Amino acid sequence: MTSLAIRPATTADLPTVTEIYEHAVRYGTATFELIPPDLPEMTRRFRTLVDGGFPYLVAELDGGVAGYAYAGPYRPRPAYRFTVENSVYLDPAIHRRGIGLQLMQRLIAECEARGFRQMIAVIGDSANAGSIGVHTKCGFQMIGTHPHVGLKFGRWLDTVMMQLALGEGATTVPTA
Ligand SMILES: CC(C)(COP(=O)(O)OP(=O)(O)OC[C@H]1O[C@@H](n2cnc3c(N)ncnc32)[C@H](O)[C@@H]1OP(=O)(O)O)[C@@H](O)C(=O)NCCC(=O)NCCS
Repeated sequence: MTSLAIRPATTADLPTVTEIYEHAVRYGTATFELIPPDLPEMTRRFRTLVDGGFPYLVAELDGGVAGYAYAGPYRPRPAYRFTVENSVYLDPAIHRRGIGLQLMQRLIAECEARGFRQMIAVIGDSANAGSIGVHTKCGFQMIGTHPHVGLKFGRWLDTVMMQLALGEGATTVPTA
């Protein structure tokens, strides 16, 4: 019997979050970072997001952190303030058990509750079937591909742009 909880991250989760991300940086193309950030840097990023009012979640599986997801600003200029970009990473040993999907569904709900209107996924590489699959299952629409914009492991990488309207989306204009 396994137990899964999706909950807000705390600083106590960040050593495992840092390890999960380190694996993705070293061996994967989902992220275009080349040097894994250390725990102080991951803590600084976490604080910036949480203090900025963005959700940062972990999936706790049988008492251990199995994955995490967060949303942050899509771009810094203020007209983008209702649009977020999301990230989701799982422990590579625990893929394809529905945990990425649950993290994303909760992240979407948290962003809707905060009044954000659009969520954008910038997916590292066209071959990332897992990420494209989980975003599709969450209702994201395919926007398009930026071909050959990254260089990692000696090869050119695409980014795949997917987008989900949150809450009332563009059907109304927020007063704030
Ligand atoms: C992308 C990622 C978060 C998905 O998490 P996951 O827990 O493995 O995915 P889930 O089990 O929740 O999958 C949910 C659905 O997504 C789709 N999906 C997931 N992995 C897939 C794959 N490898 N190929 C095709 N579709 C896939 C399926 O529709 C799946 O539903 P199903 O299993 O009922 O068919 C995970 O693979 C991961 O951490 N990848 C490396 C980092 C990364 O790419 N992050 C995204 C950055 S934007």
